[in-house]
Amino acid sequence: MRDGVQQRDLPSVRQDVAKVAETEEAGPVRSGEPLLLLVRETIAHQVHGGERALWHGRRERISYSSCNEDSACESRALLPGPGQRLFCVTAGGGRVLDLVADGPDEIWAVDLNPSQNHLLELKAAGIQELSHAEYLGFLGVRPSPDRLAAYARLRPRLTEGAQRFFDGQPRMLKAGVLYQGCLERFLAHVIVPLVRLARPFWVRRLMAATTIEEQRRLFRGPTTRLWRALVGNLCRRRFFAWFSGEAGFWRYIPAEIPLHTRVVSNIFGHLETHLARDNHLVSLIFNGRYTNESALPAYLRPEPFARIRAALAHTRLRLITGTVGDALHQAESHSFDGFAISDISSYLDDVSYRDVFEQVVRTGRVGARLCSRGILYHRELPAGCARHIRREVELEREFARHDAAMVHAFLVGELQ
Ligand SMILES: C[S@@+](CC[C@H](N)C(=O)[O-])C[C@H]1O[C@@H](n2cnc3c(N)ncnc32)[C@H](O)[C@@H]1O
Repeated sequence: MRDGVQQRDLPSVRQDVAKVAETEEAGPVRSGEPLLLLVRETIAHQVHGGERALWHGRRERISYSSCNEDSACESRALLPGPGQRLFCVTAGGGRVLDLVADGPDEIWAVDLNPSQNHLLELKAAGIQELSHAEYLGFLGVRPSPDRLAAYARLRPRLTEGAQRFFDGQPRMLKAGVLYQGCLERFLAHVIVPLVRLARPFWVRRLMAATTIEEQRRLFRGPTTRLWRALVGNLCRRRFFAWFSGEAGFWRYIPAEIPLHTRVVSNIFGHLETHLARDNHLVSLIFNGRYTNESALPAYLRPEPFARIRAALAHTRLRLITGTVGDALHQAESHSFDGFAISDISSYLDDVSYRDVFEQVVRTGRVGARLCSRGILYHRELPAGCARHIRREVELEREFARHDAAMVHAFLVGELQ
């Protein structure tokens, strides 16, 4: 136990946290095939209400079905490998699978939204059951004549909870689940048509540009009034609040940071030096789908796909529905080698935020790696935690410049 960072020892909490509400093993698999070493758990929320209160999800729905970030950053920061036990926020599941590719012994994938974990199960089962081409067809990257038939093949690998969820979502499965999250549907049905209306052909030219010079010219070319109105308003707090069913991600961004201007300038600034065609999130924003297969997130590309498939035979996935704070309270001290805490700051009140990092410090081994993201801004490490984490500021800056999500601030470091 590190100085000043203790396992929560309030009797009522310890008692309740010990109560894991559900534990489910993944469904039966046919003999001779690699096992999906997957356990599902739901932790009753016990510690305090802050995290749950800030989650606006009332019913089970997938908020993020793709992975918007470039988990190359997490992989570089965490240096995953055999013998390790990692902790990762599930979200779209891509980041977890990208970490699995390097064959750690165990990953805890945690999300307070149960459907994000259902989705991760589905993606993992698909990697095990389908060929790479079938997988891209099933998820929706490529056309596919019968996604429900593919689902029927991988369904036995899912836990009952995930089966129940997807059995009730035939339209989502038929459409290709990768683009059916709330964010992805918003991009496809609102942003894409508006941008096309505002600047016809612009997106096509942007995605076709093969040099930075060519791309820069597109940003400097003549615009329309509608385009200027869109660029001027789409990233305002009020607009985000209107469409987002999630906690406002700007909640803890200091008022002096002009959210709208910074989001737009981060994206356009990124595209001054990075080709749009190489960025899967840009493709999602402007096309509503991935259009360049060579720039897919890693778990969708053939080589990582094969490594993930091999690793899933021995990497144990522990999928936990609950808050990061509660999940970490379940863990033994000094038991994790790495933490990927992606972009949950806006869901955490101050007490929960402090609790999460205190638990990271308590449960991380000496030398454990940490990669945490926040949109535009990362809240300071809570007092008492900073001295346990040696920050790697150069890496943080490099990630902020090159990460595909374009708008994240990073906290990267090593526990000491
Ligand atoms: C903003 S999203 C991350 C999306 C990200 N852009 C991506 O592509 O992965 C944050 C995710 O963390 C989950 N989450 C938020 N707060 C959490 C908490 N306290 N504990 C566990 N999961 C949390 C949300 O349900 C959501 O899936």
